[in-house]
Amino acid sequence: MGSVQVSDLKKHLGETVELRGWQYNRRGSGKLLFLQFRDGSGTVQVVVSKKDVPEDVFETAKRIGNESSLIITGLVTEDTRSALGVEVQLKTLRVLQEVHDYPIQITEDVPNIDKLLDVRHLWVRSRTPHAILRVRSEVEQAIRDFYYQRGFVLFDAPIFTPASCEGASTLFEVPYFEDKAYLTQSGQLYGEAGAFAFGKIVVFGPTFRAEKSKTRRHLTEFWMVEPEVAFLELDGIMDLAEEQVRYVVCRVLERCKEDLKVLERNTAILEKVAEPFPRVSYSEMQDVLQKLKAEFAASSDPELVKLSADILKNGLGDDLGAADETAVGLHYKRPVMIHRYPSAVKAFYMKRDPANPDYVLCVDVIAPEGVGEVIGGGQREDNMDLLMKQVEKHAIPLQSINWYLDLRRYGSVPHGGFGMGVERCVQWITGCQHVREAIPFPRTIYRTNP
Ligand code: 4AD
Ligand code: MG
Repeated sequence: MGSVQVSDLKKHLGETVELRGWQYNRRGSGKLLFLQFRDGSGTVQVVVSKKDVPEDVFETAKRIGNESSLIITGLVTEDTRSALGVEVQLKTLRVLQEVHDYPIQITEDVPNIDKLLDVRHLWVRSRTPHAILRVRSEVEQAIRDFYYQRGFVLFDAPIFTPASCEGASTLFEVPYFEDKAYLTQSGQLYGEAGAFAFGKIVVFGPTFRAEKSKTRRHLTEFWMVEPEVAFLELDGIMDLAEEQVRYVVCRVLERCKEDLKVLERNTAILEKVAEPFPRVSYSEMQDVLQKLKAEFAASSDPELVKLSADILKNGLGDDLGAADETAVGLHYKRPVMIHRYPSAVKAFYMKRDPANPDYVLCVDVIAPEGVGEVIGGGQREDNMDLLMKQVEKHAIPLQSINWYLDLRRYGSVPHGGFGMGVERCVQWITGCQHVREAIPFPRTIYRTNP
């Protein structure tokens, strides 16, 4: 008898099957034990009945602790109360390793995330992280499919880089033989080279930021997907971003129903991605935020009153703050695209808006429910002289960026793209509290272990 997967059990109704996995949890005692058995593909209830198995099997099943590794056989029977629709009546039990002191207790208590992250290598077996990371896997596959289906070439960017892309203050410097290098903050500059070679490319890989922020949305190592397209201008970039977010969210809604149920995710707000995302300029958004500030201040909800105090704290001409993005989410209740930020708050490569050179042709996609910016991107400065001015203004060492300037010397065309943080996207879709939960082994200012 070959072994079967828990997720396939329904096909084996009425058969005796072998399962390989671990004891997730157990209840019962006297004559009947209910074992939660997991094998990675799912969890099934295994019933151990004293009258149906030899005494030593019953005693073993009663004794072993959670996460003991097991090979069992049993009869698959119908169980309409379980999500799986089946349960297993145990026949034989082989213990590969008996465990008694598994460090994670399964309780109803509010989890202490920090303590659980200390044993992240074990915690990934538990129900909630398991569901979140399955969604992450679907998100990443959906991203790959989306671009592949549209003819984008996958164009891997290097991790060791000579210069900053998003500002020197968050660069990780690493020794590199007799010299030094920096961990990439974004593959975009390389993506631009790829776009001029292939027309449309996508970079997908890990990126690094020495972010001192202790917010619930900052990691020091995160994965970013970065499409870059020749001849694509701001409106087209916004169309692409909107389509991609919609595609990814719909894929998860369609294929991760069970996981979203485990996470008790209210999917109504996710379903709203089907509607067009509002596109509002930074300047127009200032007025919206002024109104929201007044409206929330007058609210009877103390949370909103508190939020109101922080709205527009940064002042006109500055980047939007976390409170602003939260307010935008509360107001529109779906992803919103904010375009044309002041050039002063954005990166050196952004193209000036010909209609008003104080602003740049950029877009941020803001996710609701306090997650904030999930996408940043825009049109790139394609004029050599204007780009040079920005390089000088940002004091970017010429020898590290000269190769990039070649892209403006030899066949420059209008072009652009964006970067989406995979963890922020997963954080929003799963509704997890902190972006740390959206990656198998999070790296933050306080954590590089395990
Ligand atoms: O807005 P950012 O900095 O844009 C870029 O890096 C562009 N070069 C991308 C491009 O146009 N190709 O970062 C893009 C996205 C953010 O919107 C956010 O989702 C994510 O990357 N991100 C982070 N995610 C987790 N932790 C952090 N510290 C992040 N910083 C950015
Ligand atoms: Mg950004």
